[in-house]
Amino acid sequence: MHDNRVATVVSTAPFDDQKPGTSGLRKAVPVFQQPHYLENFVQSVFDALPDVAGKTLVVGGDGRFFNAEAIQVILRMACANGVGKLLVGQNGLLSTPAVSNLIRKHKAYGGFVLSASHNPGGPDGDFGIKYNIGNGGPAPESLTEAIYANSRRIDQYRIVEAPDCDLSILGPQSLGGMAIEIVDPVADYAQLMESLFDFDAIGALLRAGSFKMCFDAMHAITGPYAKAILEDRLGAPKGTVVNAVPLPDFGGHHPDPNLVHAAELVAKTRGKTPLDFGAASDGDGDRNMIVGANCFVTPSDSLALIAAHADCVPGYAGRLTGIARSMPTSRAADRVAEKLGVAAFETPTGWKFFGNLLDAGKVVFCGEESFGTGSDHVREKDGLWAVLYWLNILAKTNKPVAQLLAEHWAEYGRDYYSRHDYEGVDSAAAAQLMADLRAADLIGKSFDGRTVTLFDDFAYTDPVNGEHTTGQGVRIGFDDGARVVFRLSGTGTSGATLRVYLEHYEPRPEHQHADTQAVLAGLIATARAISGVEARTGRKAPDVIT
Ligand code: G1P
Ligand code: ZN
Repeated sequence: MHDNRVATVVSTAPFDDQKPGTSGLRKAVPVFQQPHYLENFVQSVFDALPDVAGKTLVVGGDGRFFNAEAIQVILRMACANGVGKLLVGQNGLLSTPAVSNLIRKHKAYGGFVLSASHNPGGPDGDFGIKYNIGNGGPAPESLTEAIYANSRRIDQYRIVEAPDCDLSILGPQSLGGMAIEIVDPVADYAQLMESLFDFDAIGALLRAGSFKMCFDAMHAITGPYAKAILEDRLGAPKGTVVNAVPLPDFGGHHPDPNLVHAAELVAKTRGKTPLDFGAASDGDGDRNMIVGANCFVTPSDSLALIAAHADCVPGYAGRLTGIARSMPTSRAADRVAEKLGVAAFETPTGWKFFGNLLDAGKVVFCGEESFGTGSDHVREKDGLWAVLYWLNILAKTNKPVAQLLAEHWAEYGRDYYSRHDYEGVDSAAAAQLMADLRAADLIGKSFDGRTVTLFDDFAYTDPVNGEHTTGQGVRIGFDDGARVVFRLSGTGTSGATLRVYLEHYEPRPEHQHADTQAVLAGLIATARAISGVEARTGRKAPDVIT
């Protein structure tokens, strides 16, 4: 602690609900607004980082309601806890992948990401805080557990009393003896993208006039990034990026890039005069959705195609070591890995499980079915990166999205894939459903002509550090290659969300162009029968189908 820092020690009492979930601590805004709530969690983080004194941290968020207040608290507490320097995105803004990049580029000790990702924002929406470590990725479970343990016994926190910092002015300033540097949120990130992709080829495609695209920033953080990169650097026509101004409540929408919440964008790619390419990103810029003219690229397929086309992207050509996917993600990427002779990994849900594989160089690409794709360029998933990657593929192959998909399926087979979410269901009913599923013994049983050949509760041992994780979701595999997975969400803020993941493998090209929900109908009925979801939750149908 520097001598000239005068910290106030404030007495507090623990909250019992500060266990980080799949991606940090996520709660409704009024929960965060309770006196001491944010402070307790931030102190619990600092208490879990014994050697943070004198180090550099990065902080920024997606600009949602409470972002600005939270940053000022974090700055004053960082000062009181002896942090050497804070790198802060201008106006408190940084996308999640940009935080990851800044931590890595500046060799910072770690950083705070302020976001509730794709959850709605505003006074009645959600807020979140996540601590990332020095590799730029989310804290591993050992650290989040330590933070949680601290939050259960905290009795005081440290903060300095100081006026708010002006986060609008780029450059250095100081707060009670701690250095602060306000950085351009976009510059370093844009430079990184330029180092990975063929900007000449993408620029030529975007300026050609014949290629029509739209990027929907959903009033969230990627607006300024997408404008700077797609329109200013690559020369896409002005207006290519829509909903480009980040708003504290995302314009009242769910900033979640999927077929349901980005329906307006999807509509522009359908019909007789569709756009060639559409893409969207979420609240904090780590998710992406890719659509082509009258076609949708499932995130699982996106990962597979990205890996299969590595050789046409400068930053990836000739250096693919392996591919990792979260367990519920379809097995499309595994088939690409097999063909290319590289490693394939299946990890629990959540980006934090990719960190060690990336650090060890065991994988280059990672993906989740939940609209997350990324690579070893940062340690978070990265929405705009995926969009640029797809544009790079399109520019190099000169093929429409639908043709790329059809060719991929013809070569590898198609995984018809869908996720059905039952949101805000009674927590006890959801827990019971999962407990009963786990206890069921389905091996050898037949449903709708399929026989169960795999039945387990997914567990994972990290191949790098041996950390063991259990209870990650019930997997039911069938003899024809179909699969159903059940798990409970770890990011929700009210009740429970049951996720049912459904997939059916179709190797025959002549059967690869049917409607996904129709192809999956039998499997959907099987999933309902096995879980009893309707009777247990009182729901007739899922709330969201992606
Ligand atoms: C969800 C997704 C998961 C993703 C996480 C953070 O978590 O399913 O893949 O990593 O959001 O974006 P869940 O709510 O399922 O725990
Ligand atoms: Zn997100």
